[in-house]
Amino acid sequence: MGPIGVFDSGYGGLTVLKEIIAELPAYDYIYLGDNARAPYGNRGFDTIHAYTLQCVQQLFDMGCPLVVLACNTASAKALRTIQQKDLPRIAPDNRVLGVIRPTTEMVGTITQTGEVGILATNGTISSESYPIEIAKFFPHVKVHQLACPMWVPLVENNEHENEGADFFVKEYLDKILSQSTNIDTLVLGCTHYPLLMKKIRQYLPGGVTVLAQGKIVAHSLKDYLKRHPEMEARLSKGGQQSYFTTDDPAIFDRMAEIFFGRAVAASKHLSL
Ligand code: DGL
Repeated sequence: MGPIGVFDSGYGGLTVLKEIIAELPAYDYIYLGDNARAPYGNRGFDTIHAYTLQCVQQLFDMGCPLVVLACNTASAKALRTIQQKDLPRIAPDNRVLGVIRPTTEMVGTITQTGEVGILATNGTISSESYPIEIAKFFPHVKVHQLACPMWVPLVENNEHENEGADFFVKEYLDKILSQSTNIDTLVLGCTHYPLLMKKIRQYLPGGVTVLAQGKIVAHSLKDYLKRHPEMEARLSKGGQQSYFTTDDPAIFDRMAEIFFGRAVAASKHLSL
């Protein structure tokens, strides 16, 4: 039996882990942030795949039978290859889940107008993962997309609540909403973006729903474990969390508090 692994390029996945723990507190979790190589958002397919696979392998080696990629960029660029090509070779009984599918499974139930906007990193947008996945569940829904490359650096530098962030929050919201006046649902398709929620709401016209992924992914994981008792039986239930970073643990702990909303157990350094 082992913990659930939760991976992100950096800190963003903590916004997802927080909701997963709230929904499923009994399990043990290992969080791994590849902070030394973050952000992934502007990197190419091969790089993101290689980095993500290395981190997944690491979490498997630490005893996790199940890993959640709490990163849209990794889910968009690496998940399918890992599930289809790598897993059968490296750990056929283990599983890796992403954050895009759970989000796309429900977005069509929220929109009334049938037009949604996706805000994400360059990597996620260029992968077309959101339009492709949404079309499978809700073929009638029209998807508008926009890359918001300045939002992750704002958050990573703890500038998200300062005045300087207003310019880029307003700029990207204006841009996506200018694609269609019918957009009534905006998906924050990057696990860093919920930290900008206050400012996003401030600049959004009324009547537009903003979806953050944490709770959606947590519900979906709960459902997955119900449907897969064989995996559930392999998960340890000590209610413990441990944190690993490929960069400096002191910096990670300071930043993690911002993302998590409270201090997390002291992180440890991990060399890949
Ligand atoms: N948290 C990542 C995501 O959800 C983005 C951060 C990055 O660019 O590495 O896409």
